[in-house]
Amino acid sequence: MHLKLGTMHTIVVSSPEMAKELIQKHDLAISSRAVPEAARALNHHTASLAWLPVGSQWRTLRKICNENMFSSKQLEASQILRREKLQQLRDYVQGCCSSGRVVSIGEIAFVTSINLISSTLFSMDFAQFGTDSSQEMKEAVQGLMKTHGTPNLADYFPMLKLIDPQGIKRESEVHLGKILATFDEIVSQRLQSRCGVHSPKKDDMLEALLDLNQENDSNFSLHDIKHLLLDLFVAGTDTVVDSVEWAMTELIRNPEKMLKAKNELSTIIGMNKQVEESDISRLPYMHSVVKETFRCHPPGPFLVPHRANDDIEINGYTIPKNSQILINVWAIGKDSRIWSNAHSFEPERFLDSKINYRGQDFELITFGSGRRICPGLPLAHRMVHLMVAYLVHNFNWKLEPGVKPEELDMNEKFGLSLHKAAPLKAIPTKVNTTF
Ligand code: HEM
Repeated sequence: MHLKLGTMHTIVVSSPEMAKELIQKHDLAISSRAVPEAARALNHHTASLAWLPVGSQWRTLRKICNENMFSSKQLEASQILRREKLQQLRDYVQGCCSSGRVVSIGEIAFVTSINLISSTLFSMDFAQFGTDSSQEMKEAVQGLMKTHGTPNLADYFPMLKLIDPQGIKRESEVHLGKILATFDEIVSQRLQSRCGVHSPKKDDMLEALLDLNQENDSNFSLHDIKHLLLDLFVAGTDTVVDSVEWAMTELIRNPEKMLKAKNELSTIIGMNKQVEESDISRLPYMHSVVKETFRCHPPGPFLVPHRANDDIEINGYTIPKNSQILINVWAIGKDSRIWSNAHSFEPERFLDSKINYRGQDFELITFGSGRRICPGLPLAHRMVHLMVAYLVHNFNWKLEPGVKPEELDMNEKFGLSLHKAAPLKAIPTKVNTTF
């Protein structure tokens, strides 16, 4: 589909065949970004892994992330941290069971997710369960997803850029400013403590980045560090929260699927044991639940907008240079040519299927594909499986009195990520175990 929105050509790709043709044959030509005004706030786009064009600066940032955060070795080493955050999640929900408290799944997933990321980046927790401590950060992260996903007249009519008629860039500045100010403080404190003789080195991403910054002839500045941390923080929080909330919503709405997931966990893991990362590959039903959640509710419904560097010829059509390219993963997931009963949640469809979300199967490119594929995929894979498995294995969930599973509000709220419009609230009861 070719849309001319103001002065901008927008190409929307809504079939796996076309996505494959574009990404496999023209990956380099479409690997830059159509940078929205929202991402230009505080000049974030000039240092951002997510918004830089493919080039040496972008390659360096990807390499730094892959080596220091997402390599198998690093992920093995940080496993212990994730286990600790999941135990905190379990303990909190267990407390809610005792007091019969209603739990907002999005809230607890947010606290877990933000702490998983903040402890990997900074060795510190940003949020606590049951308090408003993380409210400001939450508003900033979700505010950025909103400003980056809201259609902005200034992106389509460049003469409006100076006026910023919807105030989107200004709002973005406020959210970016808040997060960067927090990171500024953390980085300054760390720099000070690195000068002290008695402070042991931390084993986190910030320490690795500061080491790189302090290498001789390094041109990796503190400014670069803060903007990279910001991208990792924002991209890694909301996407995971949305996935967990949607997975739990679908399972609570489909009690027979919930039972299958529970049975698999109790048979393979055992009632008195917790799920470990090494168990994920032994849980085919849970893996299918996650894939089906990604198919039905992709956290990045259009990926992050790509841009054509040049005119591209494809199937007899020309994509003009500088067009914005949106890969409509949301529509591909709902296409009845590809999926039987496309609108129902059926994890079973993946049990005997080789389709995966690692960028090779264009029916399910939840994380994108090619050069720009999400670098956080291996971490996200672990976080989403573990959080859902913990919530399912340790607790039984029922809806508040008067709410029926089939009447759950399934509306979606579009931004750069796809939120559940109405938060999922449920009451946990403890499964009988000896943990
Ligand atoms: C369920 C969780 C997640 C989903 C579905 C997801 C999805 C995506 C998608 C669709 C893109 C854009 C791909 C493209 O434009 O072709 C992306 C980019 C990115 N993601 Fe993720 N992501 C998730 C979790 C994470 C995590 C945990 C991190 C890091 C902590 C992360 C960091 C990034 C970064 C930095 C980019 C920009 C990469 C670039 O432009 O080169 N993501 N992600």
